[in-house]
This record gives sequence, structure tokens and C-alpha cells, in this order.
Amino acid sequence: MNGIDFTKKMLRDDALKGKTIIVTGGGSGLGKSMTSYLMELGANVVITSRNLEKLKKVATELESTYSSKCLPLACDVRNIEEVEAMHAKAIETFGKVDVLLNNAAANFISPTERLSANAFDTIIDIVLKGTKNCTLTVGKHWINTKQTNTSVLNIVTTYAFTGSAYVVPSATAKAGVLALTRSLAVEWAKYGMRFNAIAPGPFPTKGAWDRLLPEDIREQFDLTKKVPLRRVGEHQELANLAAYLVSDFSAYINGEVVTIDGGEWLQGAGQMNLLQQIPEKLWDQLEAAIRSKKRG
Ligand code: HXC
Ligand code: NAP
Repeated sequence: MNGIDFTKKMLRDDALKGKTIIVTGGGSGLGKSMTSYLMELGANVVITSRNLEKLKKVATELESTYSSKCLPLACDVRNIEEVEAMHAKAIETFGKVDVLLNNAAANFISPTERLSANAFDTIIDIVLKGTKNCTLTVGKHWINTKQTNTSVLNIVTTYAFTGSAYVVPSATAKAGVLALTRSLAVEWAKYGMRFNAIAPGPFPTKGAWDRLLPEDIREQFDLTKKVPLRRVGEHQELANLAAYLVSDFSAYINGEVVTIDGGEWLQGAGQMNLLQQIPEKLWDQLEAAIRSKKRG
């Protein structure tokens, strides 16, 4: 790509030194990739999910690589008591939290009519209620302690603004998270907080691929073909963007949702985008045919 290596690290080494960041779902997939880069940039990171064993392994691995700290804490984001206990432990360990990165999520493909009420609730509870639980807990503490220069970064998806069939609970919940992001960006700015979101396109992870692209349909639904740039995302590209949005370099960015999808959702949205399939050599013939149509 013209000598540009988009997998390179973007920010300078100490860009996040002195910051403490909570990453929900930080033990796997994109959460782990973001955590790794945030630590490399000097931040101490609290990683949380339901699986403490997995988190401990990741914390040990990352602490052996970087000089900053990684605190693994079990916490089901659906449960407000667990969220409050996780937050209290983070404060006890690091003295303060500067950034909340709401990354934990759940999803699976299914025709909506096959879903039980509990299946729908499970996704809404993890994605929307989980984000709300963490945001309220951390945000109220920032207000009560008058801590400023804080921020919340929410990971949504592009179908948060377009909607999508077959992932309706996830689309509904992510749309709610986006509304929360934009609403609090205005309401809580006076407390020195910023709220932003990232809408990723396809970034291969085990969690997402197992549930959204099961082996049986993987070949048929080649995601690279849906992306104008003809590739999926590299984890470091997302980590670079996340690190920037939680760093002081983005201090004037508030209420923004940044799409990082190689143009995927726009390609799907434009009615005539499918004309890309027309071979170049056919355009002379098509143009002549169209020009030949006279008025009236
Ligand atoms: C229909 C299903 C189902 C399926 C579970 N259920 N899987 N219904 N189709 N494939 C139903 C169950 O029968 C049950 O309802 C209810 O959902 C809860 O299921 P549990 O297994 O009890 O829930 P739990 O143990 O809490 O697990 C949650 C989970 C699981 C969502 C089912 O997959 C999970 O833990 N996921 C976390 C990780 C994840 O999903 N990562 C992907 C993020 S990717 P009943 O009525 O029977 O009790 C992502 C990408 C976005 O978000 C955009 C990409 C382009
Ligand atoms: P993933 O590895 O499955 O990540 C989901 C994480 O959420 C896991 O670490 C999981 O850990 C945690 N989690 C699930 N339920 C939880 C709960 N109740 N409480 C606490 N933690 C919980 O998938 P991923 O692809 O990296 O997804 C990360 C984020 O990116 C999600 O917000 C997802 O919607 C978004 N995203 C991903 C893609 C993509 O292409 N990969 C595209 C668009 C958006 P435990 O199971 O241990 O609890």
C-alpha cells in the first residue's frame, strides 16, 4: 500500500502515561488488542469479563511484555453490584480511573422470530444495560469527586445507525449505546467528561466469527467482498484509533462516532453501488444506449 504500513503503532510511547483505563471484555478479541496497546502507551488497565481465569492469563502475559499494570477483575456487566465492586477495587488499586472503555458485548445471528424473550434480553442486557451500568457507576464517581479530563469510549457497530436484519437485539442495543454516547457528550461535558464511540466493520475475532460467521457459511459470506477496500480490519488499526480517542490529543472530540470499516456500510447502503459489478468495457456500450434515449 504505497509503503504505508497500517499495522504500525501510531502514538508516541508515553501518550497514555498516568492514565488508568477500564476495558470491559478486555480478555479477548478486540478488547485484548486495545488493552495491549493502551498498556504499551503507558496506561494501567483494568480488564473485566465473566471469566477470571482467562483474564488472569492475559494480565500475566501483558505485564510480562509491558512495564504498566494490568488488573484482572471478574465482573458481569449486567449486574450493577458486580460493576460497583469492580470499580471500587480499581480505585483502591490505582487511586483513580480516567477512562472507561465499554467493549464487552454479546451477539449471535438468528431470525428474530426464533428468539425467546430471554434470548433478546440477554443481548440487550449485556450490550446496553452493561454499558449503562458501567457508565453510571464511573460517571457518578467522577462527578462526586470532581475529577475532570475523563472520557468514555463505547464500541458500537455500523448497524447501530443503519439497523440490520438477523442481529436485531444487537442492533437495537448498539443503537441505544450510540444514543447514550451522544446524549451524555452534551449533558456531562460540564463535568469534564468526553463521550465518543467507534463503529468497527469486520475485524476477525474468535468471539464474533464463531457467532456471526459459523464455518458452514463462512465461504459463502466472504466479508472482504463487502468492503470497498477488499480487506478486513487489522486489530492494530482499531487499537490506534481507540488509543487516540482516549488520549489527550483528542481533547476537542466529543460526541463523535468514528467508523472504521473500509467503506463497508456505505457500499451496502447506496442503491446503485451494485453497479460495481459491471465490467469496465461495458460502460461505452451502456453510455451510448443511455444517450440514445431521446426526450419525451
Ligand atoms: C437463539 C439463543 C442462541 C442462538 C443462546 N440463545 N444462543 N437463541 N439462537 N444461537 C438463547 C438461549 O436459549 C437463552 O434463552 C438465552 O439466549 C441466553 O442464553 P445463555 O446461553 O443462557 O446465555 P449466556 O450464558 O449469558 O451467554 C450469552 C450468549 C453467548 C450471548 C448466548 O454467546 C455469549 O456469552 N456471548 C459473549 C461473546 C460474544 O457474543 N461475542 C461476540 C460479540 S461480536 P432461553 O429462552 O432458552 O433461556 C459483536 C459484533 C458486532 O457484537 C458486529 C459485527 C459486524
Ligand atoms: P469477543 O472477543 O467475543 O468480545 C466480547 C467480550 O465481552 C468478551 O471478552 C466477553 O468475555 C465479554 N463479555 C460478554 N458478556 C459479558 C458480560 N455479561 N459481562 C462482562 N463481559 C462480558 O468479540 P470481539 O469481536 O472482540 O468484540 C469486541 C467489541 O467489538 C464488541 O463490542 C463488539 O460488538 C464490537 N465489534 C466487533 C466487530 C468485529 O468484527 N469483531 C465488529 C463490530 C463491532 P467473557 O465471555 O469472558 O465474559
